Amino acid sequence: MRTDYCGLIDKRFLGQTVTVQGWAHRRRDHGGVIFIDLRDREGMVQVVIDPDTPEAFKTADASRAEFVLEITGIVRERPAGTANKNLISGEIELLAKDIVVLNSAATPPFQIDDENLSETVRLQNRVIDLRRPQMQKNLRLRYKVALLVRNFLDSRGFIDIETPMLTRSTPEGARDYLVPSRVHDGLFFALPQSPQLFKQLLMVAGFDRYYQITKCFRDEDLRADRQPEFTQIDIETSFLNEDEIMDITESMARHVFKEAIGVELGDFPRMPFDEAMHRYGSDKPDLRVSLEFTELTDVMKSVPFKVFSGAANMEGGRVVGLRVPGGAAFSRSEIDAYTQFVGIYGAKGLAYIKINDVAQLNETGLQSPIVKNLTPESLAAIVERTGAQNGDIVFFGADKAKVVNEAIGALRLKIGHEKGEAGGYFVKEWRPLWVVDFPMFEYDEDDKRWNACHHPFTSPKAEHLELLKTEPGKCRARAYDMVLNGWEIGGGSVRIHRADVQSTVFDALGIGAEEAQNKFGFLLDNLQYGAPPHGGLAFGLDRLVTLMAGAESIRDVIAFPKTQRAQCLLTNAPNAVDEKQLRELHIRLRNPQPAA
Ligand code: AMO
Ligand code: AMP
Repeated sequence: MRTDYCGLIDKRFLGQTVTVQGWAHRRRDHGGVIFIDLRDREGMVQVVIDPDTPEAFKTADASRAEFVLEITGIVRERPAGTANKNLISGEIELLAKDIVVLNSAATPPFQIDDENLSETVRLQNRVIDLRRPQMQKNLRLRYKVALLVRNFLDSRGFIDIETPMLTRSTPEGARDYLVPSRVHDGLFFALPQSPQLFKQLLMVAGFDRYYQITKCFRDEDLRADRQPEFTQIDIETSFLNEDEIMDITESMARHVFKEAIGVELGDFPRMPFDEAMHRYGSDKPDLRVSLEFTELTDVMKSVPFKVFSGAANMEGGRVVGLRVPGGAAFSRSEIDAYTQFVGIYGAKGLAYIKINDVAQLNETGLQSPIVKNLTPESLAAIVERTGAQNGDIVFFGADKAKVVNEAIGALRLKIGHEKGEAGGYFVKEWRPLWVVDFPMFEYDEDDKRWNACHHPFTSPKAEHLELLKTEPGKCRARAYDMVLNGWEIGGGSVRIHRADVQSTVFDALGIGAEEAQNKFGFLLDNLQYGAPPHGGLAFGLDRLVTLMAGAESIRDVIAFPKTQRAQCLLTNAPNAVDEKQLRELHIRLRNPQPAA
């Protein structure tokens, strides 16, 4: 029936009769002539319906937004001056001969081209929302990226092997989604947080190069860049070291950016974790923002200002400055707003000094309520180390290092993104990097124990094996993250391939031999049968596509995402289930919910 897509008809079709099918995007009545913009997957075509074709005119007149129409007409040039250069079909229009209503439509909940919709409305009406050209574009980009990834990895000898969704818990650090077993009373499957252990076992099984584009499930606090189910491009290789794995995956990222959106990614500098924390307070620094932390802990130990000296002398405390060029012009209310903002991250205040005259290290040259409580040496260090110039402002964070890093790190991004372009400290470019030399473990103050920074199957650096038992905090991992514009888009590591080393790491994590055998026996046992050295990486596909699409949230590149509260507003999942189903699963609820 259809001869062509609406959005692809251009001047080559002049004079031809075509039949198109699609949705009535807009209908305008222009004093006797009706215009309909008919929309399909490829875009829009303008259709003109003249009263000279009375049947078609009557149908057009009765058509409403989102009616499904079949229109046959002749392609002609648009009148001079009315061409739309932004559309492929912008220079032509269709003079309708015949219109058939394939289906009517109830009045949609919103106009397809309404740009000011709340996300709740969009997610409740996701099907209509997906009709929006931007969403069509995002999902096609996603498809293209996945296809490019498959072709790239295939050309490098990787094969796609599926791994189970109903499995045992994998410790990636989040809570599991559990699935009760009907057959086995009281037992549960976990949905995979990643295919981590299966891909390692595939290496032991000799497949050498594996990949999979697969769903992962994590019950964790959600944000703009996190979903409870998300998609990984999961990769594992045997007999390659970290440099080789990083080379392959970096090549893949370059290839995909070039082919999908025409972007040549520049260098991927490698930055040790310690340096990233030191300079940016973050292990995924946004290098588009050039503002950096200045370390001041050492010079604040003996200043009278207790907020600074207290933090500087505290175990695990840190004092930093953040110089913002030209920031002396910030108003009182802007600074108050920043102070409130850092409060979200636990900062108890936001001290600052406005630099009026670097030559006068006193209350005249340095405008701030805290200057009188700082020593001349510390003031000199602030000016010298930050490189402050007249007209700048220096903000300060003083607290436990974690609070300082998060609060001042977030402030760095906020000021950088909001003011950086005008102020000359933000570049609108792609700034990838590798963050390397991660610690093996981080100390959990609440539980008083060590946790794995990446996951417990990550290999320590060979020269740090001894530290595993004595000083786990100093032990570095053979792990690497790929970071782009402040987003962690991928992460991986060389794995432990020896059962004895794996046991030592479990020990360091406080997982005893019995518990290890219980939970990970299938891994430990198989490591004994000639496991090859192996390692890999997983990209977050949703995050990758979000960045490429220039979208704000990963929900904009997922057809049917969940809300921040882990609900699907389209289907209203999760939902209450029948008593009968629960009984079959041997489950009695503590707080039964009314059936929805
Ligand atoms: P990791 O936990 O770092 O590593 O995950 C890999 C990548 O997946 C993406 N990601 C997410 N995307 C959306 N929503 C989420 N909730 C979410 N969580 C993670 C990120 C991240 O970089 N098995 C290891 C990989 C390996 O070692 O090979 C793993 O899962 O972009
Ligand atoms: P106060 O002496 O408490 O009035 O604080 C003086 C200045 O220090 C104010 O600008 C506070 O916002 C700031 N301040 C307080 N606590 C901290 C902190 N932990 N880190 C940085 N600045 C702080």
